[in-house]
Formats: sequence, C-alpha cells, structure tokens
Amino acid sequence: MKIIQTTALMTEQVNQWQSTHKKIALVPTMGNLHAGHLALVENATILADRVVVSIFVNPLQFNDTKDYERYPRTLENDLRVLAPYNIAAVFTPSITEIYSQPLEQTTQVNVPILSDILEGAYRPGHFQGVTTIVAKLFNITQPKIALFGEKDYQQLLIIRRMVLDLAMPIIIKNIPTVRDSNGLALSSRNSYLSDQERVQAPFLFNTLSHIATKIKQGKQSFTHLEQESYNLLVNHGFQPDYVSIKTINLLDPSQEDHNFVVLGAAYLGKTRLIDNIPIQLG
Ligand code: PAF
Repeated sequence: MKIIQTTALMTEQVNQWQSTHKKIALVPTMGNLHAGHLALVENATILADRVVVSIFVNPLQFNDTKDYERYPRTLENDLRVLAPYNIAAVFTPSITEIYSQPLEQTTQVNVPILSDILEGAYRPGHFQGVTTIVAKLFNITQPKIALFGEKDYQQLLIIRRMVLDLAMPIIIKNIPTVRDSNGLALSSRNSYLSDQERVQAPFLFNTLSHIATKIKQGKQSFTHLEQESYNLLVNHGFQPDYVSIKTINLLDPSQEDHNFVVLGAAYLGKTRLIDNIPIQLG
C-alpha cells in the first residue's frame, strides 16, 4: 500500500496502471475510517484491479469553519486499519496540493436544485464542495468505478447526477449503510457523542424506522408522519433540522409512488446526525 501525497505522483502511478489496462476503483473519504468505509473498501477490492482510497478533509464542503477545524483527523490510525486490505494506494494530498488558489477563486462543480434541498438547505454550499472535490479526485485517479455509502443518500444521488450530466465514464456503486447493533448509522461524527448521547443517538434510526413501518402499514398522511416524528425527536432531546419523506429521486411523493426514502437530520447536543431508510411498497 503506497502512500501518495501529490497529484503529480498519483498521476504517474495512474498512468502506469493504465498502460497495463488495470481497472481502478476509488473510495473517496475524509478519513477517521470506520466499518462503513471498510465496507466500501472491501467491495472495491472485489470490483477492480487497483484500489485507491483518498483521505482528504475537504474545506470546500464545510459551511462552518468550526466544524471543519474540529473534524477528526486520524491518519495514522486510518493507515493502520487499511493495511490488511488489498489497497494499491492511499492518496493523502495537502490542502494546497488540491486547492492552489484561494477557495473563493477555485472552479466549482454544481448540481443545481438537488443540492439545494434537505441537507443543502441547512448546509449552503456543502454539496457544491462535495461535487467539486469528487470531480477533482476522479480526474486525478481516473477510476472506472467509485464507491459511496447510502448513509449520505443525497450525496450519492448528486454524484450520480454529476457523472451523468458531465458524461464522466465512471460507475457509481452504492453500498448499504453500516450500523451499530443498536441501529445507529456509523459516522465519523459519532466520535463527538458523549456516553449518554451514544445511548440516545439510535433514536434517530428508531424514529425513521417507525415512519417506514407506518407507511408499509398503509398510513399515507406523510405530512402528519413527518410532524409526529419531528416532535418525537424533540421530546427525546434532539434538535431536528428535518424529517422528510421523499421519492427515491428526492422528489415530493404522490399517492402513485411505491418507492420512498425517509430522511432525517438532527442535532444531539453539538453533534449533527443524519440517517435515512429506503421503503419499498409491494
Ligand atoms: O462522504 C464523504 O466522506 C465526503 O463527502 C467525500 C465524498 C469523501 C468528499 O469529500
């Protein structure tokens, strides 16, 4: 497993792999790796000849400087947990390596509308930062396949749209959310939770599951379900941003739809948690 820190060296390595027709897979991450990331890595090693894991805490996708500064950076441990896997390279560029210009002058990729709802409404500019860095990582590592977790459902859809709209010849593979045995979706941000908050945190998943059950039982007043769940979260000590039932394309659902996703985002103390559950009827 090579550790590559510059774009020039990564490009050189990619050129070499391509000269021998190796199929490259990219697993983009911001580090602080957990079992959710490792599920992406494991799938990547099955699907490609050469796996690149990128670790880069992307300043462009943080709409809050404090959130960026306190984001966990655990490179040494990340390299240790990656070591047993069949990874060809870990790409760990510095900020100046990725953004040679001040951030406000850098070219950005934007997927409109889809980036402005749900997470985008609460984190303005977030998805533009995500699509910009992901496009750049795609250009540097030239993957045939890139893997993303379903936990960031909206991010997954936005990246698929970017790839489609910009005719990027890359397959986007989604991998199911990995959860603790209590249902809590694994996230790097879970490390912020206090012991007591860790006990409370699975309630977000329980609430979304409750909505999923009601929809499957035929309870169709989505607005009522959203409001009821929002209130339940408040009563359990959360400060929700939203609880929302959408179609799988993140459109407002109608009576004719059969496939939904219920999404929620809520603060527990200072930690912002997000989760979602897909629902299939019939
Ligand atoms: O999901 C993440 O960890 C990040 O948004 C990503 C895709 C690595 C881009 O920085």
